[in-house]
Amino acid sequence: MVRATMSFPSGFLWGTATAAHQVEGDNTNNDWWAWEQEPGRILAGHRSGKACDWWGGRWAEDFDRAAETGQNTHRLSLEWSRIEPSPAVWDDSALDAYRQMLRGALERGLMPMVTLQHFTLPKWLAERGGWLASDVVPSFERFTRKVVSGLMDLVGLWVTINEPFLVAFFGYGSHEFPPGAGSLPKALDALRSLALAHGAAYRAIHELQPGALVGVAHHIRGYVPARAASPLDRQMARIRTRLASETFPRMLTNGRFAALWRNEHLPGVAGTQDFFGLNYYTVERCAFDLRLPGQLFTRGFYPPGADLSPTGFLANEPEGLGRALAWARRFGLPIYVTENGVEDPEDRMRPRYLAAHLRQVWKAVNVGTPVRGYYHWSLVDNFEWERGWTQRFGLWGLDTETQARQRRPSVDFYAEICRANALSSEMVARYAPEALESLFPSHGPEGLDIERG
Ligand code: FCB
Repeated sequence: MVRATMSFPSGFLWGTATAAHQVEGDNTNNDWWAWEQEPGRILAGHRSGKACDWWGGRWAEDFDRAAETGQNTHRLSLEWSRIEPSPAVWDDSALDAYRQMLRGALERGLMPMVTLQHFTLPKWLAERGGWLASDVVPSFERFTRKVVSGLMDLVGLWVTINEPFLVAFFGYGSHEFPPGAGSLPKALDALRSLALAHGAAYRAIHELQPGALVGVAHHIRGYVPARAASPLDRQMARIRTRLASETFPRMLTNGRFAALWRNEHLPGVAGTQDFFGLNYYTVERCAFDLRLPGQLFTRGFYPPGADLSPTGFLANEPEGLGRALAWARRFGLPIYVTENGVEDPEDRMRPRYLAAHLRQVWKAVNVGTPVRGYYHWSLVDNFEWERGWTQRFGLWGLDTETQARQRRPSVDFYAEICRANALSSEMVARYAPEALESLFPSHGPEGLDIERG
């Protein structure tokens, strides 16, 4: 067996990511809670319910788990509807509860990264149109000012919005997320508001806390043509990539909202990222299909033989992360992998998925890509939006009836990586032996590959 170690730079951040609605429980005053009560919205009729009971205080035991297993950071989000239950009415006890949570993280050596908006909106704002409401941008800025003033002594790393493209397109372009508007023009309007809201929040945070680092967690999905020789498939993959992965990050650089038929300059949006937050999960094949106008004439699928997660939701495609990091580097900003993980209750795939993706991060770092940290999704199984509890992304499993946590083997694998600040062949041999040869090859190729030069 090859003995080799892939070491990460000193000070590298190792953690996990969570989102308020997915872990807190009893978030009764937001749009997702209302959505969950509607029949047919969530797979198997699941509801977030008590979730992981973090609002009941179980964040403390989960932070213990994270800290005891070598993690040094945690990404969490704030629930806007708790802090501002009605327009401009503040619940300071909710803000205090977050102060406790953040202090609890710091006391355990977990440096917090805080997301201001992770999918949910207060009900009062959703009722006014959500991301299409005429006052959504000033509302988000007001909320940002309130929480940053109240928490900035504890937080220096802010994510304004999680996956704005998904919020706009799943919520306003189709029906997966509330409000399920199903209109492409509305999705583009929502995307525009999200960019303006981010810009306003970015400026507000810097005014209050000049030293803060502010970014967005962008969902960067890989899209590749189903048939490399097909110009139409290639074109579809290109359109998807531009729209879903590139539009938002580019907009925050040059202030230009250029998506499908829209092309306009957005004031206050250019140059509003201090770091690039990158959520990466998988790569999808794209085939041109005339029967799917609603999906921009693209059929997305995983190829036969792909290494699929148990429900077929994700394919293990680590090279896609390498490509995403290489692309993100062009922004000239520090990069954090703000999410990456796989749904896998039996923990059969997670160890090799984790190892293969970390190898890509390591490769990127070694060619000078400024990756500063990695947040695995997630610490403990949590409520997976429209897929309810059918998908289990946690390092720890969760029994929603009893709130008992179950330690999956990946807990120990990740702990060894975090503690060593490295991934070694010896660790892979123990936790993901099936991936050893591909990650740490013991033999070179048969011959010099003159074809590939
Ligand atoms: C991302 C979301 C996160 C979680 C993972 C699996 O798109 O940001 O909340 O649901 O997917």
